[in-house]
Amino acid sequence: MIRPLTGKKVVLGVSGGIAAYKAVELSRLLVKEGAEVYVVMTENAKQFVTPLTFEALSGHPVYHEIFGSQSSASMEHIRAAENADLMIVAPATANSIGKMAHGLADDPLSTLFSAFAGPVLVAPAMNDKMWDNPAVQENIRTLKKRGVGIVDPEAGELACGTVGLGRLAEPERLLEAVRKCLLRQSDLAGLRVLVTAGPTREPLDPVRFITNRSSGKMGYAIARQARSRGAEVTLISGPTHLEPPFGVSLLNCQRTGEMSQLVLDHLPQCDVLIMTAAVGDFAPESVQKEKIKKTGEEPLVLNLQPTQDILKAVAEKKSNQLIVGFAAESANLVQSATEKLQRKQLDLIVANDISAPGIGFQSDNNQVILIDRHAKVESLPLLTKVEIADILLDRIHTQLNTR
Ligand code: CTP
Repeated sequence: MIRPLTGKKVVLGVSGGIAAYKAVELSRLLVKEGAEVYVVMTENAKQFVTPLTFEALSGHPVYHEIFGSQSSASMEHIRAAENADLMIVAPATANSIGKMAHGLADDPLSTLFSAFAGPVLVAPAMNDKMWDNPAVQENIRTLKKRGVGIVDPEAGELACGTVGLGRLAEPERLLEAVRKCLLRQSDLAGLRVLVTAGPTREPLDPVRFITNRSSGKMGYAIARQARSRGAEVTLISGPTHLEPPFGVSLLNCQRTGEMSQLVLDHLPQCDVLIMTAAVGDFAPESVQKEKIKKTGEEPLVLNLQPTQDILKAVAEKKSNQLIVGFAAESANLVQSATEKLQRKQLDLIVANDISAPGIGFQSDNNQVILIDRHAKVESLPLLTKVEIADILLDRIHTQLNTR
């Protein structure tokens, strides 16, 4: 039998919810896959499942008391847990999510979380109204921003008798998230990745500018995921409202010319360039020093000049870098994107249909098609931008290994 998680150490954090029984099944599945499992429980979790159950399944003492009678032998296990490959908190109650988001550490689970340096997955489980609570959602966003993976809850019948979103993901889904995270861990170590993100901004005068609707979310998600998979990441960003991803070196710019200069300066030091930026195609011919005034009812005519095509300049300067472009199209998606891939001499292009509602610009989700140099077309379903980032990085990883 193949045991894909052999040699991997996983911390399973259990907080107090009725779904704690699913954590029992998850620990069994993890052990079955070969992982060494260390369980940490909150006081409330013990109301639902006993530490003995997890101890019997994992073969290790369960960490469930900060103070008290846990022996020095179990302290050794706590140290081992701190150095584990991954931590998954399932079920994560609104209370534990709040503690993790705010750095509180007053029980074994939150204490271990605050001392844990590896990747963390959090699988929330709560009543649907609690899940919708703005404070809970804010805490989830905070954790996501810090690179914590969220295994979204499912819709269905809840413990309180209502039906809604808030049920802990099924153990198989939790196992799948653990597997993916562990197998991707450090797979990009040693790789130097350059990412561009966001819109460009071309000034007209001291108060006005031309820009576009790009939020930068896709590029930031790629930068964050690449870094969490071990890559050394430089992010060249146009103006966005996003928090800089942890551990990524961020270079800000506004105009196409500035972005182009930064990309060309950093190109020789990178192995992969991912151009998610929505680069403005036109810029005002000249920037007025003073604010442009109205002149009665006269229309204002702007003269716009095409900007430099950054990827075209990259094609002339690149050596062995793998170059990925994005294509925002409103018609003939595959054909237009394939033409762009060829014209810009790309290895891979990510195409999306900007006319489809609810995805793309500003959204946390997108539905994209990946096209490679050999015209292989892969259509992905509707996914979060973080999920798309990981799949794109998987494909880049494969291309680099089969060159
Ligand atoms: N791009 C670039 N320099 C530009 C414009 C775009 O490097 N001046 C890059 C984008 O970052 C993206 C790819 O080229 O990776 C495709 O961008 P897109 O705006 O879809 O294509 P354009 O080349 O601008 O062509 P068009 O707008 O006519 O579709």
